[in-house]
Amino acid sequence: MESDINLGLEDVFIKHTSLTYIDGIKGILRYRGYDINDLVSNCSFEEVSYLMIYGELPNKKQLDEFTKELKEHYKLPRHVLSLISELPRDSDALTMMETAFASMSSGEYSWNKENDRKQATKILGENLGIISNIYRHKMGLRLKEPDPKYGYAEAFLRNCFDNVTEDEINAMNAALIIYIDHEVPASTTAALIAASTLSDMYSCITAAIAALKGPLHGGAAEAAFNQFLAIKKPENVDSWFEDNIVNKNKKLMGFGHRVYKTYDPRMKIFKSIAEKLAITDDEKNLLKIAENLEDLGIKRFSSKGIYPNTDYYSGLVFNEIGFPVYTFTVLFGFSRVLGWVAHISEYVENEERLIRPRAVYIGPGEKQFKKIDER
Ligand SMILES: CC(C)(COP(=O)(O)OP(=O)(O)OC[C@H]1O[C@@H](n2cnc3c(N)ncnc32)[C@H](O)[C@@H]1OP(=O)(O)O)[C@@H](O)C(=O)NCCC(=O)NCCS
Repeated sequence: MESDINLGLEDVFIKHTSLTYIDGIKGILRYRGYDINDLVSNCSFEEVSYLMIYGELPNKKQLDEFTKELKEHYKLPRHVLSLISELPRDSDALTMMETAFASMSSGEYSWNKENDRKQATKILGENLGIISNIYRHKMGLRLKEPDPKYGYAEAFLRNCFDNVTEDEINAMNAALIIYIDHEVPASTTAALIAASTLSDMYSCITAAIAALKGPLHGGAAEAAFNQFLAIKKPENVDSWFEDNIVNKNKKLMGFGHRVYKTYDPRMKIFKSIAEKLAITDDEKNLLKIAENLEDLGIKRFSSKGIYPNTDYYSGLVFNEIGFPVYTFTVLFGFSRVLGWVAHISEYVENEERLIRPRAVYIGPGEKQFKKIDER
């Protein structure tokens, strides 16, 4: 019966989309037709958010209005901050994110274009306060509201750290744009399944976070970065690779992709930012390790279409900005919230249908029922 099912839904198309285009052979990624490199080099996260939510890049007036609306939602409902602060500090950061989003669901939501755009903007604003305060709580800092004086990336960093540089703000802005969307990976699919039942947007995001949490999806940046830490020195790369990848037949984390069979274009951007932000000896050392390991990985695996993916260098960038390794996955989720709301809105508005697959039954045939004292 195995042949009747499609394990992993590999190559199953579940919706049409105008959001994200990927060419895995040429290494191209576009949001609504715009190349990821152009967007990262020229746009603020707010501009790309408008593009994803409204379908076009904004003009100055549209951007000003959108930014004003977004900033009105930097402030979180009081109970959300209390909830975050009540959670054990060593809870998983994504568990905190799930709790915050689940607690904001009113249980009812009327899906339509106008509501969806308003709700998406509200969620993006609130998301900034949620993620920065998850960081603050984990670090043992007093929770606080983001300052609406600043743009998105800057307000986020200033709500996490006392001092931030222009380069760090630009790096955060780029990371936010890079992780926005990647078609329908497991987390987006989980959000779509919830949306297909006409559940509310907050609950759909909670479902997506649950799927992002698993190590096969969101955890690769942390895993890749931990490899660099374990290697310790650039000259250890060859022996570490032999001992840990070749001899143990393990996968090199941050390499390989279901869709890209060449360089992931996002990885190249993260690499150039990691190079720019590497200032301390520790940062330069980790970068050199990553570069040596990248060269070796390409030498060994590129003939099979296995190249470094977006998570290979993103951890270095987050570390250089000042984030600890256990926040890397929640930082990915921070950005991906926009992709989730854009996809679920697109699905419900254009081609909503309950997602309800089937399972092939392989259990026993009919059995004779026996009451409990006869068993
Ligand atoms: C991303 C990933 C799950 C995609 O996998 P996939 O499309 O299901 O491909 P498979 O896992 O079936 O791998 C196909 C072949 O490539 C090899 N391969 C894939 N990724 C590899 C890696 N990172 N290192 C070494 N070999 C790898 C597999 O061992 C397998 O080899 P085989 O055919 O000789 O058995 C996989 O590449 C991976 O686990 N990478 C590491 C984790 C990671 O970086 N994830 C982030 C993705 S953005």
